[in-house]
Amino acid sequence: MAIRLGDTAPDFTAESTFGILNFHEYLGDSWGILFSHPKDFTPVCTTELGAVAGLEAEWDKRNVKVVGLSVDSVADHNAWAGDIEDVTGNALNFPLVADPDRTVAALYDMIHPNASNTLTVRSVFVISPDKTVKLTLTYPAATGRNFDELLRVVDSLQRTAYNKVATPANWAPGDSVIIVPSLSDAEAAEAFPGFETVKPYLRTTNDPG
Ligand code: BEZ
Repeated sequence: MAIRLGDTAPDFTAESTFGILNFHEYLGDSWGILFSHPKDFTPVCTTELGAVAGLEAEWDKRNVKVVGLSVDSVADHNAWAGDIEDVTGNALNFPLVADPDRTVAALYDMIHPNASNTLTVRSVFVISPDKTVKLTLTYPAATGRNFDELLRVVDSLQRTAYNKVATPANWAPGDSVIIVPSLSDAEAAEAFPGFETVKPYLRTTNDPG
């Protein structure tokens, strides 16, 4: 069953490179990103996992815990880790779940049989501290993900979770944000003094940061 926005992220307990990992317990009060890669010892995946490890300070700044997953074993994950560091200069600093029996992959609908019967696609689930699924992405095996875009998305999700705002096309931190249409002008004036009205339904204000 596909996971949809607003669903509670399914919990699981599985072996990982950090030992037995209970997903919800591991996330605690943090935001979470669960992402799958198709296979250990493959080129695109090597670059992706190194890129994620290299963003450790950015995840920490945003209170995000990252968890990777593939259908490989912990032994394979550990054997591959050295290659990731060799190639990217970044040592793995987040857990990689081992899912050889595909239990978690099935729970999160990460195997798309018409793409591959056996390997996970490049799924991403961004999860808020109350364990709600806030964003999903699916990339094919041959296309590596842009993790700077994932940071941007987390920045947007956090703005919209904590303020009555939305973010426009191609928004980046520091850009103006949109005041949600459900707020009256009077309420908007109280919450966002000096806001700008572009159209009655499009009101902008400074990035709440
Ligand atoms: C890769 O990571 O390069 C890859 C993995 C599975 C299929 C194709 C490419």
